[in-house]
Amino acid sequence: MDISGKNFKAFLERQEALKKQYSPKQAEKQHSKGKLTAWERIDLLFDEGTFEEIDAFVTPATQNVEFGKVEKSYGDGVIVGHGKINGRLVFAYSQDFTIMGGSLGLVHSKKIAKIQEMALKMGAPIIGLLDSGGARIQEGVASLSGYASIFQNIISSSGIIPQISVILGPCAGGAVYSPALTDFVFMVNQTSFMFVTGPNVVKEVLNEDVTFEELGGAEVHVTKSGVAHMIYEDEENTIMALKKFLAYLPSNNVENPPSVQYDNSTPDINEKLRDIVPDDPNKAYDVRDVINLVADRNSFFETSELFAPSIVTGFARLRGKTIGIIANQPKVLAGVLDINSSVKGARFIRFCDAFNIPILTFEDVPGFLPGMDQEHNGIIRHGAKLLYAYSEATVPKITVILRKAYGGAFIVMNSKSLGGDFSFAWPTAEIAVMGPDGAVAILYRKELAEAENPAELKKELVKKYRDKVANPFIADELGYIDEVIDPADTRKKVISAFEALRNKWVKVPSRKHGNMPL
Ligand code: HXC
Repeated sequence: MDISGKNFKAFLERQEALKKQYSPKQAEKQHSKGKLTAWERIDLLFDEGTFEEIDAFVTPATQNVEFGKVEKSYGDGVIVGHGKINGRLVFAYSQDFTIMGGSLGLVHSKKIAKIQEMALKMGAPIIGLLDSGGARIQEGVASLSGYASIFQNIISSSGIIPQISVILGPCAGGAVYSPALTDFVFMVNQTSFMFVTGPNVVKEVLNEDVTFEELGGAEVHVTKSGVAHMIYEDEENTIMALKKFLAYLPSNNVENPPSVQYDNSTPDINEKLRDIVPDDPNKAYDVRDVINLVADRNSFFETSELFAPSIVTGFARLRGKTIGIIANQPKVLAGVLDINSSVKGARFIRFCDAFNIPILTFEDVPGFLPGMDQEHNGIIRHGAKLLYAYSEATVPKITVILRKAYGGAFIVMNSKSLGGDFSFAWPTAEIAVMGPDGAVAILYRKELAEAENPAELKKELVKKYRDKVANPFIADELGYIDEVIDPADTRKKVISAFEALRNKWVKVPSRKHGNMPL
């Protein structure tokens, strides 16, 4: 090839023009807001030198712009491509706020759609780094349609490849449904926000004054709405955490999750587990202490930590292999199941099931949260989601009952009768239709009303109920659990049960899809 020829010269000139587009001035603009540039994010995310950009030279569509003007730029405000993260193929797009506010015009949307389709074809995860003013106003309906094709692609890839969104700036209007449809959403504290209608509209329609942060900041979404799953203090930490997180996941739904080298440093038998559940059934403890002693040391990656904290979800490893963990958290509202914790658990289970991640459940739950608020907002409908998700999941499912397993909650939390594969109970387990207080109040209402000293009688009956009914031995004798185990042996038992389930195979009759109560 003649490298001094016309086209080669043009090729070099275009490369130079592209480089110049990412000027220090633009970088400064981003940095001044506590944000990184689109390229800095890509460089942090991918293994050094592995990212290959495509469509760098496409230019925005200008044909139907009747209002305002569209800046001529290379790439149309988004970098797309593929590379390696921890040595594994991943596709990504990174919106560039310095070009027309990262707004999504037709060409911008086509670039994203193109790599979404490539990621699906290659069976590789896709990551969106979002920093955008939303649909490009100047391009009107073409931008809206661009969003629609992105949504359609996310839905087509759902359950086939992991899809992760990282919100690194604004994400407003209908654009929020792009991250909302993906599997996990990461946000950065103070510099990212998401809302369907912004503070101005809220003021106009409701005459309420709210700030961006109050309405849709990262903290709101990880604590109140549950839209986002993870929050970090800055972009570097967010991207580092994302890389760590990806290492738990398979690249697609026909792969098994990756195994990491296991260093043998976690004891399979650990007597410390005997001391976690307090003797007093009304005393709380942190279920994470159980998780951390059963899973490989330092392997627990909690998801949605701040949302619905009466249930704990996250990924961990057992001898280097990924598992999903769901645990009632006695430290928060006694580990009760409410609307949010049911939905949080259900969504996590469905992700694990879609991606062949075995599920380990730790159970200590007094039941569903009573009250008008919960009933009127649909605890029946939402609790049914958790029940449905557990029952529908065909991955290996093991439960360890640590303490309370009362009523419907016992059934819901992966009971054997609901398709759980193994059910173990610690000697501290209390398995019954309801807790001692409720049972005594119903069965002995008359006697208590007529008793000379009702408090004394109640205490006696509660003790009797605890000794005779609220223990794991009746369920053990009837085969509703598989084994009462020494807490110290939990890790050993669980590892061996998952090994026994390695080739679990369930035939599901063909149907279009079930009708999960949404
Ligand atoms: C075109 C846009 C834009 C947009 C921002 N810009 N949003 N251009 N279309 N949607 C441009 C600005 O004109 C500006 O250009 C540059 O990006 C930076 O924006 P600023 O406003 O200066 O930045 P900042 O003060 O940080 O505010 C960021 C912002 C604000 C909060 C995102 O720009 C904003 O409110 N934008 C509109 C958000 C919105 O409502 N989008 C539509 C959502 S509806 P210059 O040339 O001055 O640098 C939607 C529908 C999707 O997305 C439907 C899917 C079904």
